[in-house]
Amino acid sequence: MKKTSNPLLAALCALALSVTYADAATPFATASKNAQIPRLVRQNGHYALMVDGKPFTMLGVQAHNSSNYPGALDKVWAAVKDVHANTLEIPVAWEQIEPVEGKFDFSYVDTLVAQARQKGVRLVLLWFGTWKNTGPAYTPEWVKFDNQRFPRMIDKDGKTGYCLTPLSEQTLKADTKAFVALMTHLKKIDEAKHTVIMVQVENEVGTYGSVRDFGPKAEAAFRQPVPQSVLARQRSPVPGAASGTWSEVYGPYADEYFHAYAIASYIEEVAKAGRAVYDLPMYVNNALRDPVEPMAPWKNNFSSGGPGYDVVDIYKAAAPHIDIVAPDIYISESHKVNAVLTQFQRPDNALFVPEMGNARHYARYLLQILGHGAIGVSPFGVDYADYVNYPLGSKENGKAMSEPFGKVYEVFSSLAPLWGQWSLEGRTYGLAEGDDRKSQPLEMKNWGVTASFRQWQLGSQPDPINLADIPPGTESPSGSMAMAQIGDNEFVVVGQHIRLHFWPAGANAGKPFMFARVEEGRFDAQGKWVMERNWNGDQADHGLNFTGRPTILKIRLRTY
Ligand code: DGJ
Repeated sequence: MKKTSNPLLAALCALALSVTYADAATPFATASKNAQIPRLVRQNGHYALMVDGKPFTMLGVQAHNSSNYPGALDKVWAAVKDVHANTLEIPVAWEQIEPVEGKFDFSYVDTLVAQARQKGVRLVLLWFGTWKNTGPAYTPEWVKFDNQRFPRMIDKDGKTGYCLTPLSEQTLKADTKAFVALMTHLKKIDEAKHTVIMVQVENEVGTYGSVRDFGPKAEAAFRQPVPQSVLARQRSPVPGAASGTWSEVYGPYADEYFHAYAIASYIEEVAKAGRAVYDLPMYVNNALRDPVEPMAPWKNNFSSGGPGYDVVDIYKAAAPHIDIVAPDIYISESHKVNAVLTQFQRPDNALFVPEMGNARHYARYLLQILGHGAIGVSPFGVDYADYVNYPLGSKENGKAMSEPFGKVYEVFSSLAPLWGQWSLEGRTYGLAEGDDRKSQPLEMKNWGVTASFRQWQLGSQPDPINLADIPPGTESPSGSMAMAQIGDNEFVVVGQHIRLHFWPAGANAGKPFMFARVEEGRFDAQGKWVMERNWNGDQADHGLNFTGRPTILKIRLRTY
C-alpha cells in the first residue's frame, strides 16, 4: 500500500489493513481507492474474496499450460463461455515476458486483459517462474542453461538434479525482478478495473526424487537452528527437541520441512516484492501427497517441500505475503476429496481449489466445494485446445468435456452474487455423492437434512437399490448440493441427482413440522428471487428430488 501524507487517508488505510485479517465484520466500502482492490477478508474463521468491494464467488476454469499466447486464446474463450465461468486462470510465463534479460514484453498480458474485459470475465494469473510442476521449464533460456549463475539442486549422492535450488540469491533476484515488472505492468493497465483479481506465485513447487538440496550452502543452512517463527507454528509429528537444528527438532521429517521452509521463504520474497508494487491477493498451489495414508516421512512418494497439508504451518510462518495454500485436486475418490477439503480449510487458510480434474465425475464436487465456503473452484483444462490431459482429467474435449461443469455453473451463476456473503457469514453447506453411494446426514442450525441418491422422484428405491431400475444419469456418482441457511427456517439450495429429506434438530428436535413453501426459481440480476413454480404434493411428499438438471429451490420450513 502506498504511503500517504494525508492523515485521514492514512488512518482509513490503516483501518482497512487492520480489518483485512481480523475476525470482525469487514466494512465493504471505504473512501480509499485501495479499499476496492481485490483482497481476502476473514470473519469468524470464514473467508470472502472481495472484488470491487463485494464478496466474489469464483466460478473458475483453468486453461491448458500452453494456451498463454494470443493465438491460442479463442479456443480458451469458447470453453469459458460454454462453461459459464466468471473467472479464467491462465499462465504468464517468465520465458514469455523476459525472453532476453532485462527486456520485457507484455503484449500477451495486454491482449489477455483486453479480451477478458470484453468477455466480462475476471482473471487469475499464474506466475510460471522458477518452478512449474517443480521444474524450470518456464524460465527463460538465459536462466535454464546458466547453471553457474542459476544453480540446480544437488542430491544426496552429489549429483546435479533437475530442480533449481531455492537457496540461490541470484535466481531469487532474477525471478523477483521479472515478477515485479509484471505486477508493475498490471498495476498500470488494470488498477482501475480489477480484471485480474488474484495471482498464483510459481506452480506446484517442491522436488521429486530428492528430499532437499544437499549442496554446500544447503548443508550449512540445514545445520542452523530452526527459526523461531517456524518453531512457533509447526509441530513435530514425532517427539523432538523444543528448539535446535532441523534434525534435533523434527527428526525424520527434518529434510522435508527444511526444504519446505527454503521454498516458502523464496516465494515470500517474490510475493512481498510484487505486492509492494500492486497488492493483489496471492496464493500457492500444490500437488497433493496422499491425504489419507498415515503420516510418515517423505519416501519419494510426493514432491518434497511443496505446500502439502502437513507443512501449511511452515508456509504460513515463512510466507506471510501468501494468503492461501491451495490444493490441486486430481484424486477422484470421494473420501480423499473430503479429506483434502478438511485439511486445507482452516481458520488461518481460506478454502480455494485452483485446479481440479475436468473429467465428468469431478463435476459433482463443484457444489460440495462451494457449499463448504470456498472462495472459488476451478476445473483444469477447460479449454478447447487440441489436447486432453487424461488420465488426470477428461478423455473427451469440446462440449462433452465442458457440459457437466457448465450446467452447474450456469444455474449457480444466479446465486453467485449472493453466495459470497452467505459464505462469509458461515451459512453455507455442501456435499457430494460418495463412491459408496450411501445417504449422508448433515446438521445445520436447528434443522438437519439427509441426502440420498439414485432415487426416482416418487416413492423409494428398495435397499439395496435395484440396479436395473435406476434413474438415468445415476449410473456413476453424480449427486451433489450446495445449501445456504438464509434465515432460521429458510434455505436456498442448488442440487442435482439428489434427494433431500429435512428433519428438525437442535432447538426444533422432536417437533412436528411441514414445508411452508418450496419454490423453484432463480435470482435476477438485482438479487431478487423470481419464482417459477411451487413444489407441493408429489413434488414434495417423497423428499425433494433433484434430477440431473441443476435446480435452485428456496425452502421455508415450519414446526407446529
Ligand atoms: C497440475 C499443474 O499445476 C498443471 O499446470 C498441469 O500440469 C496439471 N497438473 C496436469 O494437467
